[in-house]
Amino acid sequence: MHSLVLVGAIGAALSLSACGSSDSGGNSASGGGSSSSSKAGKIGVILPDTKSSVRWETADRPALEAAFKAAGVSYDIQNAEGDADKMTQIADSMMTSGVTVLAIVNLDSDSGAAIEQKAKSQGVKTIDYDRLTLGGSADYYVSFDNTKVGELQGQGLATCLGSKPANIIYLNGSPTDNNATLFAAGAHSVLDKMSNYKVVGEQAVPDWDNDKAVTIFEQLYTAAGGKVDGVLAANDGLGGSAISILEKNHVAGKVPVTGQDATVEGLQNILAGTQCMTVYKSAKEEAGALADAAIALSKGEKAQTTGTTKDSTGNRDVPSILLTPKAITKANVNDVIADGGQTKADVCAGKYAQMCTAAGIS
Ligand code: BGC
Repeated sequence: MHSLVLVGAIGAALSLSACGSSDSGGNSASGGGSSSSSKAGKIGVILPDTKSSVRWETADRPALEAAFKAAGVSYDIQNAEGDADKMTQIADSMMTSGVTVLAIVNLDSDSGAAIEQKAKSQGVKTIDYDRLTLGGSADYYVSFDNTKVGELQGQGLATCLGSKPANIIYLNGSPTDNNATLFAAGAHSVLDKMSNYKVVGEQAVPDWDNDKAVTIFEQLYTAAGGKVDGVLAANDGLGGSAISILEKNHVAGKVPVTGQDATVEGLQNILAGTQCMTVYKSAKEEAGALADAAIALSKGEKAQTTGTTKDSTGNRDVPSILLTPKAITKANVNDVIADGGQTKADVCAGKYAQMCTAAGIS
């Protein structure tokens, strides 16, 4: 909050209207940003897509905008729409337009590492937002404790299943997403210890694609002869895919399903009883941590970290800011609303109004 803020505030004011009007991927924000002083240290953020989770556009973008606006810095947030080449092009154009700090949610480690390498060669600092880029060169990694996310999912499923014997299917996230590896490892570390549970199917879903997940889950379900008692789904979208097949087989609500992101759909499924839990990761916290780290970098200062994360591909310890995820069941859906993660109007719309009342969401 020093003189930089003043300069940044002017830059931000100039670029805000442009940022506001460019929804997913417009370049308009760069125009406003370039008229601000380069000392303002414009911050670029590239989100991965709009389909692997609704979180990126509905939670992260507004939280990032709010964090950058509050700090009075100039920014440009764009979305690569699931296309690694597009992410590379956006990164190039952001660097041309003068960003001094670039944060990416990589679509795969190789393309992410190439972007970071190029940035480094141009003196642009980089941050891995949410997903660690293996073999990358990011100055910081801002995320949640992703192994813990998987552990919460495993514990949540175990609580819903109880101590009787149970057959479990794992629907994991994208094989190119290091987080997906950590989620699955965390869940296995909890559930594999429980001798009453048996894994009867497990598959990773390319690009977290919800449509592919429907097909994959149906195949796994059929291969297991329909003898499936629980589903470890890595996020709410994949959970929804599994629930659609459970519905088709008239067992939705009888077979607990996990999730992640506390999306409106996930929370509604929890209220309806077709999903057993989700994991809430506050976008406000994560975006705030990113803004703090980015602003520190743009001033040539060090950000406050919580520790380091091992990148085994690059064989380095990446300075990290890792936040704490929270398990959500029907009993505490209200926590997400109280924290501003979703609005009551969205979650309790239409037929969910009664379920909200029953769950004590007033
Ligand atoms: C994120 C999850 C998200 C998933 C799909 C992961 O890297 O941590 O929150 O659901 O990607 O976008």
